[in-house]
Amino acid sequence: MLVQLLLLSSVLLSCIGNGNAGLTSAFVRNEWPSNDIPLDNEAFAVPKGYNAPQQVHITQGDYDGKAVIISWVTPNEPGSNKVRYGLTEGKYDFTAEGTVQNYTFYNYKSGYIHQCLVNGLQYDKKYYYEIGNGDSSRKFWFQTPPEINPDASYKFAIIGDLGQTYNSLSTLEHCMQTGANTILFVGDLSYADRYDNHDVGVRWDSWGRFVERSAAYQPWIWSAGNHEIEYFPHLGEVIPFRNYLHRYPTPYPASKSSSPMWYAMRRASAHIIVLSSYSPYVKYTPQWRWLNQELKRVDREKTPWLIVLMHTPIYNSNDAHFMEGESMRVVFERWFCHYKVDLVFAGHVHAYERSYRISNIRYNISSGTSYPVPDKSAPVYITVGDGGNQEGLAQRFRDPQPDYSAFREASYGHSTLEIKNRTHALYHWNRNDEGKRVPTDSFVLHNQYWWVHSKLLRNYLGNSHRRRKLKKNYLHSVISKISRSHIF
Ligand SMILES: *[C@@H]1O[C@H](CO)[C@@H](O)[C@H](O)[C@H]1NC(C)=O
Ligand SMILES: *[C@@H]1O[C@H](CO)[C@@H](O)[C@H](O)[C@H]1NC(C)=O
Ligand SMILES: *[C@@H]1O[C@H](CO)[C@@H](O)[C@H](O)[C@H]1NC(C)=O
Ligand SMILES: [Fe+2]
Repeated sequence: MLVQLLLLSSVLLSCIGNGNAGLTSAFVRNEWPSNDIPLDNEAFAVPKGYNAPQQVHITQGDYDGKAVIISWVTPNEPGSNKVRYGLTEGKYDFTAEGTVQNYTFYNYKSGYIHQCLVNGLQYDKKYYYEIGNGDSSRKFWFQTPPEINPDASYKFAIIGDLGQTYNSLSTLEHCMQTGANTILFVGDLSYADRYDNHDVGVRWDSWGRFVERSAAYQPWIWSAGNHEIEYFPHLGEVIPFRNYLHRYPTPYPASKSSSPMWYAMRRASAHIIVLSSYSPYVKYTPQWRWLNQELKRVDREKTPWLIVLMHTPIYNSNDAHFMEGESMRVVFERWFCHYKVDLVFAGHVHAYERSYRISNIRYNISSGTSYPVPDKSAPVYITVGDGGNQEGLAQRFRDPQPDYSAFREASYGHSTLEIKNRTHALYHWNRNDEGKRVPTDSFVLHNQYWWVHSKLLRNYLGNSHRRRKLKKNYLHSVISKISRSHIF
C-alpha cells in the first residue's frame, strides 16, 4: 500500500512539476440517453402508507459535527414533527421536535416540509432514527463524524449537476458503492426548472425521493447552482432560490453567516467553505465580508484540510461556461492562495477537469502578467459537473489545452476524497463506464499546510516525537520561511 502511494505521489509530483503536460482523455463513452427518468419509475417510488414521510435527507446541523438537520416531506397532512433516535436499532431513547412549513410555487402546492435539528450527539457513533406515525413510520440511520482532529481520516464524495436521468442514477449508485461518509454537493440539484408550471414543484419532489437512498443516511453538504435560481417572471415567481431554500436547509448561523446560501463547517479534519456563485460577492457585500472573517477562523492545526465548494468553476477550459468564473476569481483567488486552500470543487460544466496548482493574481490593471502561472500556494481546482443531468455532456474542450489544465474528460462520474491524516489524502475521479465505476484520475494529495511542516521538520529535526512538542509559533515562523522557497 505504502509503495503504491509513493508511486502514485511521484507520478503526481512529476505531472505538477512539468507545467504543460495536461491530458485530454480520449475516452469515448457509450451515450445513454440523457432523458429524465419517468415519474412512475421505481427510482421515484412513493413510500407505502398514508402520509408516509418521503424525500428524507440529512445535513450537518452545526459547526463541528455534533448535530444533524433531518428533513422530510409528508404529502397528505402535517403529521408529526418528531424524530425519535438512539444508539440502538429499534430503541429510540431520545426525541427531537422540528418545524413544518408548506408553500406554493405558481399553481403547485408543496407537501408539508419538516425540518428537525438533532443536536448534542456523540462523535463517531451510529445513530438510528425513526420518523412518521404507526404503519407509515420509516427508519433510517446515520454515522456522526469523528471529533475534530488533525489526523482524523474521513471519506468525502463530491457530486455536481446531478439531475434525475439514468446517468444521474448511475452516478448516485456508484457514489454509494464508495462508502463515502459525506457528500459535498456543488450545485444544480434537480433541474426541475426545465419543466413548466406545476411540474417544477413535482420534479423537486421526485428528486427528493431519488436522492433519499443516499441522503437519508449520509449528510449532503449543499451549495446552490444556477438551476436553483428559478426566476420565472412569467409565472409571477421572482424571488430567487425559493424551491431550494424551502427544501434544503443549511447550518449557516453556526458559522456566523447571514444567509443559507454561504456558510462553513468543520468535519473530522476538514474545514469546508460553501460559497454562492449566484449571490453578491464583490467587495463589501455580506458574502465577501463573511468569507473574509471565516478564512481567519480556519485553524489548520485542528482542521488541516481546507476545501471550498462553489458552483461556477474558476478554472475551466471547456467551451461550455468558459470564463464565467472570472468575476469570482478576481475577487477571491488572492485569498485562496494566501490561505493555501487545498481544493476548490465546482460544477456547472458537464464534464470533468482538474487544474495544476496555478494562480493568476499578479495582474493589476496598470501592470503585471495576466495569465495563470504555477503557484505552490494555490489550490487544485476540480470541476465535477458531470453528475448526469438531462442537459447532457459538455463535449467541446478548448484546443489547445491550456497550461493550467492537468486532466479533462467529457463523461459522467463523481469524485472521492479520502483523507488519511494531516499530510495525505487519496483522490479519485470515478467515471461511470458502461454501468461500472472506474477510478480514473487518481492521485495522492499533499496537504497545503502540513506537508510543508512535515518535510521541513524532518529536515530540521528528523524526529516526529519532538515535532509534536513544538510550539505553534515556532512552527509558523519556520513555515513562512520555507514555504517561500519550497516547490511541490
Ligand atoms: C398550508 O397548508 C394548510 C393546511 O393544509 C393550508 O390551509 C394552506 O393554504 C397551505 N399554505 C400554503 C402557503 O400553501
Ligand atoms: C500594480 O502592479 C505594479 C507593478 O507590479 C505595482 O507597482 C503597483 O503597486 C500595483 N498596484 C496595485 C494597486 O496593486
Ligand atoms: C499519513 O498517511 C500516509 C498515507 O496513508 C502515510 O504514508 C503517512 O505515513 C501518514 N503519516 C503519518 C504521520 O501517519
Ligand atoms: Fe450550472
